[in-house]
Amino acid sequence: MKMIEVKNLTFSYDDTKTTIDDISFSVEEGSYTTIVGHNGSGKSTVAKLLAGLLEKKSGEIYLGGLELTAANLTRIRSLIGIVFQNPDNQFIGSTVRDDIAFGLENHCVPQADMDEIINTNAARVKMTKYLDHEPTRLSGGQKQRVAIAGVLAMKPKILIFDEATSMLDPQGKDEIKKVIRQIHEESSLTILSITHDIDEVAQSDHVIALNKGKIAMSGTPHEVFTDEKKLKEIQLDIPFALKFRNALARRGVQTDAHITMEGLVKELCRSDSNM
Ligand SMILES: Nc1ncnc2c1ncn2[C@@H]1O[C@H](COP(=O)(O)OP(=O)(O)OP(=O)(O)O)[C@@H](O)[C@H]1O
Ligand SMILES: [Mg+2]
Repeated sequence: MKMIEVKNLTFSYDDTKTTIDDISFSVEEGSYTTIVGHNGSGKSTVAKLLAGLLEKKSGEIYLGGLELTAANLTRIRSLIGIVFQNPDNQFIGSTVRDDIAFGLENHCVPQADMDEIINTNAARVKMTKYLDHEPTRLSGGQKQRVAIAGVLAMKPKILIFDEATSMLDPQGKDEIKKVIRQIHEESSLTILSITHDIDEVAQSDHVIALNKGKIAMSGTPHEVFTDEKKLKEIQLDIPFALKFRNALARRGVQTDAHITMEGLVKELCRSDSNM
């Protein structure tokens, strides 16, 4: 089933420039899609349109088979959870527990059910032992994990990450990428992650590359990274392709069953000797 379906979507912030220019794409339920593209290509705008935070100019958006319209905005919003870039802007509670509880309280979840939901989701992001800690004192990676637990507690069907790892140190980035991968493996949640992180792209099922508000490329990580000519055109050029190749190699055959280890080694040796 298509969990996200976008047809001929167009959007403009101020009518002087078309920010999202007639894009169409769909995302299968339970899949993990990354969105790449250089700064200003429209990635965050797409995320905000999907979440109903911006109003489209034309086109259609369907989430879980339901069309996003003013009349069913509340239902649509309950399907989506978003984790943003800045870990410091996502806290409301004075403890990690309060923070995860916040959305649940707003949705009138009975107190009796709350503890179990909080504990389950803190465990999913490995933050159980921090439940009584102050969120402000956590590391960036831990803060993002709490933000993810808070979003998961609301039981969304679609999880959107808008550069959720970009402000973190390497360790924090790795923690979050691992959590995202684990959520993907253990649940049927549909994941859409906007990222500049090549390793994250390599671990996804599908990549959409945006350029100037249009979809420039779309396919498996392997299909996208091998089209170096096109990558160059959209300024995600050779270093991107090389890093991508290496990231895929680090993941071995896992992301791409039809690349043999021998093929990967050959590719890597060739790219190393060209550097
Ligand atoms: N609130 C706004 N008002 C007017 N223009 C905006 C607004 N937000 C974004 N834009 C413009 O819309 C275009 C797309 O922005 P968007 O934030 O979607 O890009 P992005 O791909 O997420 O970039 P980045 O990688 O820098 O996060 C840019 O040209 C940006 O300047
Ligand atoms: Mg953005």
